[in-house]
Amino acid sequence: MGKERLDKLLAATGRWSRREAKELIRQGRVLVDGAAAGSGEEKADPAASEILVDGLPLGYREYTYIMLHKPAGVLTATEDRRQRTVLDLLPPELRRRGLSPVGRLDRDTEGLLLLTNDGALAHRLLAPRSHVDKVYYARVDRVLGPADQAAFAAGITLEDGLVCMPAELKLLGDGSEVLVTLHEGKFHQIKRMIASRGGAVCYLKRIAMGPLALDPALDRGEYRALTEEEVVKIGGKP
Ligand code: URA
Repeated sequence: MGKERLDKLLAATGRWSRREAKELIRQGRVLVDGAAAGSGEEKADPAASEILVDGLPLGYREYTYIMLHKPAGVLTATEDRRQRTVLDLLPPELRRRGLSPVGRLDRDTEGLLLLTNDGALAHRLLAPRSHVDKVYYARVDRVLGPADQAAFAAGITLEDGLVCMPAELKLLGDGSEVLVTLHEGKFHQIKRMIASRGGAVCYLKRIAMGPLALDPALDRGEYRALTEEEVVKIGGKP
């Protein structure tokens, strides 16, 4: 990434505001390659220099990638005047990093949501031609069967005439629970596809997106940083 202002580098970790970072530097608590930094305007390359704050490595990363287990009842948005958003589930130091959700889940949908400030990656993952697979678990108010599987495989036409790409419908148990794999992401897509087959979705959860699977250790509302391996797999910058 090259050289960047020290106050900006410190603030980008989310641990301090820009003002607090300047103050730390002024107090001589920030060392660059062993020498106390003089001011926030001083520049350093975190990949080439050792930056210590109070003796501990800065741990700077250019981008942040968070896996959230979205609970029902929160909006996939960065802010809303009335309702809780997925950003409200994160602590202040993460909220300060300019994260945005990659794609959206309905308010009542649960499951895997990726949040990042790597705009280029978000753009790539969301581009219609990337066809990133998304896997959903759904409970439906009726039993689905082979005719529904064939319709999904052929490409469902929604009530407004929109034609969906072929999708996989896997029946679980008696067929009232299913796994659906989409290669695109249209508004309320699963609910509308199931509606076109005369059913209604009672519960919906995203369990995978591309190479990322929802971590079973994450409870609803919990989050964790992606591992380095996951970041590489989705094409981010570790
Ligand atoms: N399809 C839906 O209907 N809702 C979602 O949240 C995601 C996919």
